[in-house]
Amino acid sequence: MSFSYQNNTLHADSVAIPELVDTYGSPLYVYSRTDIENNWREFDQAFGTHPHLVCYAVKANSNLAVLNVLAKIGAGFDIVSIGELERVLAAGGTANKCVFSGVAKTAIEIERALEVGVRCFNVESASELNRIESVARSVGKQAPISIRVNPNVDAKTHPYISTGLKENKFGVDMNEALDLYQHIQHSEHLTVQGLDCHIGSQITDVSPFLDALDKVLTLLDQLNTHNINIQHLDLGGGVGINYEGEETINIQAYIDAIISKVGQTEIILEPGRAIVGNAGIFITKVEFLKQNSTHAFAIVNGAMNDLLRPSFYNAYHQVLPINKTSTGTQANWNLVGPICETGDFLAKNRDLSLSEGDYLALMSTGAYGFTMSSNYNSRPRVAEVMVSNTSHQLIRKRETVQDLFAGECLYE
Ligand code: LLP
Repeated sequence: MSFSYQNNTLHADSVAIPELVDTYGSPLYVYSRTDIENNWREFDQAFGTHPHLVCYAVKANSNLAVLNVLAKIGAGFDIVSIGELERVLAAGGTANKCVFSGVAKTAIEIERALEVGVRCFNVESASELNRIESVARSVGKQAPISIRVNPNVDAKTHPYISTGLKENKFGVDMNEALDLYQHIQHSEHLTVQGLDCHIGSQITDVSPFLDALDKVLTLLDQLNTHNINIQHLDLGGGVGINYEGEETINIQAYIDAIISKVGQTEIILEPGRAIVGNAGIFITKVEFLKQNSTHAFAIVNGAMNDLLRPSFYNAYHQVLPINKTSTGTQANWNLVGPICETGDFLAKNRDLSLSEGDYLALMSTGAYGFTMSSNYNSRPRVAEVMVSNTSHQLIRKRETVQDLFAGECLYE
C-alpha cells in the first residue's frame, strides 16, 4: 500500500500530501499508479498460464490516466456505456479486450461497439438480444454474445450492490438461457461467445462466488449437450476490499478455486473496486469546528457531491490526519460537508484531535469516489492527481464555476 506516514506526514508513494495540497488545492483525489498496477497484476498473475483476461470495470474510476496505466500493462475493460467505451479508446485501450455489460444498451451504443469490434456484449434480456441482432443486421455484422445469467445466490453484501438475486433487475433466469443461446446459434447476425454472471460488489467471502460458479458450470454442461460452445466464462467483478479492517478474499485462492473447476475454459473477471479502491484517497480541509451540547461537527470542504458513498450506502471510510502530530480539540467528530442536506456527511463518530485548517484523508476512496461525484449545490467537481514514486501529475483539472453552466443557455 502506497499511503503511509513518513515523519508523521501522510505520503502517497514518496510524495508528501501537503505538497499536493499546496500544488493542486483541496478537496482532491489522489491515486497511486503503483498500487493500481500492482492490484491489476495480482489478478493477472494469479491465473498463471490459464487462459484469462482481467477486464477492469471502468465504472469504478474512469479517469483517462487510470485507464491508460491499465491499458499499458495489458488490461481488458468492462464497460457499460458508450461514454466508457470512448474513454477506453481515448486512453489507448483495445476494443477487442472490452466486454460490454449493462442492462439497456441503446442502438447507438451497439452500433459503435460493433464498429470498433468489442470482444462481446453481455446481454441481460431477450429484448436486448433482439435489439443487438437488429442493429447487427442493419450494419451487416455479427455480434459476439454472452448471456448474463442470474444465478440467484446471496452475495451477503449491501442490498444496493447485490445483483445476483432473483429480486434484482440483473441477468436472465438460468432456465431461460438455453432458449436465448439457441436463438443466437441460429441467427446470421449473432455468435455465441461466452457465458456471464456478476453477483454483486464488495463481497468479502469467496463462497457466494463459488456457488454462482457451480450453477454456471451446470448450465455450461447443459449448453454443451446442445452443441453450444462457449469460448469464455465471465465471472464478473465484486471482490471486496478492506475498508474497516474486514477480512477480504485471498485473490490467489479464489482464482485457484476457479481454475480447479473450469478445465481449460478461458476466464474473464471484471474487478473494479479491487483494482482502484485502496489505490486512492480523498483529501479535505477542516473549515470550521462546531460543537453543540450533544454533537461535535467538523465542517470540511468536501461533501456528498464529491464522495457519495457515506451518504448513499452508509459506507465507512477511514479518516486519517495528514499531519499526525497536529494538536487540536479531541472529540468524537462527525465530518460533514457544506451541502444543505442532513445526509451530507463523510464520516461519523471519529475520535480525532482537530483544528480548523487541518487536512484529513478519507482512505480507500479510489473506487466509486470521483465517478459518483456530481455538481449538486453547484459545486465544481474536484481535481484528480496521480502519484508515482517521487513524481505527481494533475490528471483532471478542478472544474471552474464557468464549467458548471457552460452547456446552458437562457430560454429565448
Ligand atoms: N461487472 C459488473 C457487471 C458490475 O455491475 C460491476 C459493478 C462490476 C463488474 C465491478 O464490481 P466491483 O469489482 O467494483 O465490485 N457504487 C457502489 C458499487 C456499485 C457496483 C456496481 N457494479 C459502491 O460505491 O460501493
